[in-house]
Amino acid sequence: MKRVLLIIGGGIAAYKCLDLIRRLGERGIAVRCVMTKAAQAFVTPLAVGAVSNARVATDLLDLEGEREIGHIRLARDADLVVVAPATADLLARMAQGHADDLATAVLLATRAPVLVAPAMNPAMWSHRATRRNVALLAADSVHVIGPNAGEMAEKGEAGVGRMAEVAELVARIETLLGAGAREGGFGFLAVSDTRTARPAACSLLLAGRHVLVTSGPTHEPIDPVRYIANRSSGKQGHAIAAAAHRLGARVTLVSGPVEIADPAGVEVRHVETAREMLAAVEAALPADVAIFAAAVADWRVAAPGNGKIKKAAGAPPPALELVENPDILRAIAKRGPRRPTLVIGFAAETQDVVAQAAAKRKAKGADWIVANDVSEASGVFGADRNRVHVLTADGVEDWPDLDKSEVADALLRRAGAFLSRDTV
Ligand code: CTP
Repeated sequence: MKRVLLIIGGGIAAYKCLDLIRRLGERGIAVRCVMTKAAQAFVTPLAVGAVSNARVATDLLDLEGEREIGHIRLARDADLVVVAPATADLLARMAQGHADDLATAVLLATRAPVLVAPAMNPAMWSHRATRRNVALLAADSVHVIGPNAGEMAEKGEAGVGRMAEVAELVARIETLLGAGAREGGFGFLAVSDTRTARPAACSLLLAGRHVLVTSGPTHEPIDPVRYIANRSSGKQGHAIAAAAHRLGARVTLVSGPVEIADPAGVEVRHVETAREMLAAVEAALPADVAIFAAAVADWRVAAPGNGKIKKAAGAPPPALELVENPDILRAIAKRGPRRPTLVIGFAAETQDVVAQAAAKRKAKGADWIVANDVSEASGVFGADRNRVHVLTADGVEDWPDLDKSEVADALLRRAGAFLSRDTV
């Protein structure tokens, strides 16, 4: 039986832990709980003890408790330590290695992987001090889930700061318990290094970040049964979303119609048309990084038929009047308070790849453009491999022929490094 040590911090989201303990119990995962002093102002140790069916540990210097189980044993007995809700103060003390209460002492003593679920007011979450602390924890291989955007407990407050939902927590905990067995209990991820083609230990560079990705084609209706579309399998965009998730980010994937499965652990919004894609992207903001890998149809039919257009004997083929679709990348890259820190576009070209991509980077206001040759000779469409050039303000990088998931990993690690430079 897998064992989770749940450290409950002092926030209003602490009440969700009762449900979390139950859901984990249903999956055969044993939960022991530690509560901070502040947590006990939100839920009682009695309630937590009742649902977890175990004595709740609350005090570092509780002689009775120490004799019975001891904080070192609590730390050692867990396969995974989960901190939920992780308040700004608890994150700060973890980052500094404090050990002046039971929660922090256990966190310092444990060798098990640690997952934190931050929950706090949006202003506290976006404060540089909190970003710094989360980056420090991520560098120490602490896993981070959330926080999500939405309404806060305080009336009229909204933004990024809500604790991840219980279902999301359960899914991540199950993944980590599985991964823990494979990785020998350490929270490192093996990601191959494109430069050296050697596996490299990589911490969760994008922990605490929100990455927004578009993927796949859009379908623009001609009538209820026909549509205009671009060729796109969605493989590259989906691989990018999966890579961002592996690197610890909260990920929203806005996908057009594709034949491939939703990546695990990623919030997916399914859309059909360019206008729906733009609306879903706008609704998902704010984001730290936005990556536009979708092959959006440039035009749509001005007045799609309500009924199927029928052939009539001797009649000429119907003329379709097209109007331009919104350019999603250009709209999001426009300067403004909601512009993501890093905006990355793709350029699918059949000739003069780098020159065309450079012009696109300027015209659309993207920070980086990932350019690829989609001419028939390149065989990129639907394939698993891709050869790209990455254009930044500093110049052009020609990447070798790589698997689409390797392109995704390398791109996201580069994005993570770029953001850390910005905030730490
Ligand atoms: N893009 C977008 N919205 C559109 C068209 C394109 O967000 N309506 C994004 C794509 O996701 C990609 C980038 O813009 O990141 C470039 O897409 P591409 O199809 O190569 O360029 P276009 O703008 O369509 O230019 P053209 O077809 O003339 O080459």
